[in-house]
Amino acid sequence: MVDFHSHILPGMDDGADSLRTSLAMLRESARQSVDILCATPHFSADEDDVVSFLGRREEAFAYLRSVMKKAGGKAFPEIRLGAEVRYFPGLSEAKDIRDLCLEGTPFLLIDPPEGPWPDGMLDEIERCVVTLRCVPVIAHIDRCMRLLHDESLIARTKGRRMLIQANGSFFLHRRSRERALKHLEEGDIHFLGSDCCNLHDRGPNLGYAADVIAEAGLASVLEDLNSKVRRVITET
Ligand SMILES: [Fe+2]
Repeated sequence: MVDFHSHILPGMDDGADSLRTSLAMLRESARQSVDILCATPHFSADEDDVVSFLGRREEAFAYLRSVMKKAGGKAFPEIRLGAEVRYFPGLSEAKDIRDLCLEGTPFLLIDPPEGPWPDGMLDEIERCVVTLRCVPVIAHIDRCMRLLHDESLIARTKGRRMLIQANGSFFLHRRSRERALKHLEEGDIHFLGSDCCNLHDRGPNLGYAADVIAEAGLASVLEDLNSKVRRVITET
C-alpha cells in the first residue's frame, strides 16, 4: 500500500519527535503492509521559506536513511519526499512552491485552513494547475469536513482540477465509516494517507483502514486505487 501523507521525518514538525520514533513508525507502517510512504512535513509560508525547508528536510532524511540502512533497510517502506503545504492567499503565484511537490511527481499536497472554504480559495488552488504546473491534492478532506461540520466539501471539489486525499481514520471512526466507504466506492477519494505523527493517538493506521474496507467488500476498489497511485507516483 502507498501511504500518501505522513509526518515521519524526525524533528521536522509536530510529527516524529525522535529518530527512534521515526523508525518505530516506519516498522509499524511496514507491518501494516505499507511499502511506499510519502514523508510530508508541514510547510507554512508564514514561518518558513522553501529553500531552508528543503535543506532541513534533506538533513532529516539523510540522518534517517543512514540509520535505516544500519537497522536493515528491507524492514522499512520506501520513502518519497514531499510536503503538506498550508494554504495561503497568493499560493498560486508563489513559483517556488512547486519545489514542494511530491518528488518526481506533479502532486502538491495542500492543507486547507481550518475555517470556512471561500470559493476564491478553491479557485486559487485550481489555478495552481496552470501557474505552478502541478496537480493540487487536498489533504485529509475528512478532517476538514469534521472540523467545519460541512459534509459538502467533497462535492465542492468535484469538477475542479484538484484531487482528494483522505485519512485512514475516516474509515476507522464509527461515525464516519459508512460515508468513507461510500466516497471510496464512488471514486471520490484519490489518495489515502495515515497522516501519522506518532505511535499513540495518531499512529500508522492504513492497515486497519484496509481491513475495514475489505470487510465491507471493497477490497478490489482499494486494490485498484493503490495500483493507480503506485503507477502515478512511480511513473510520472
Ligand atoms: Fe498532516
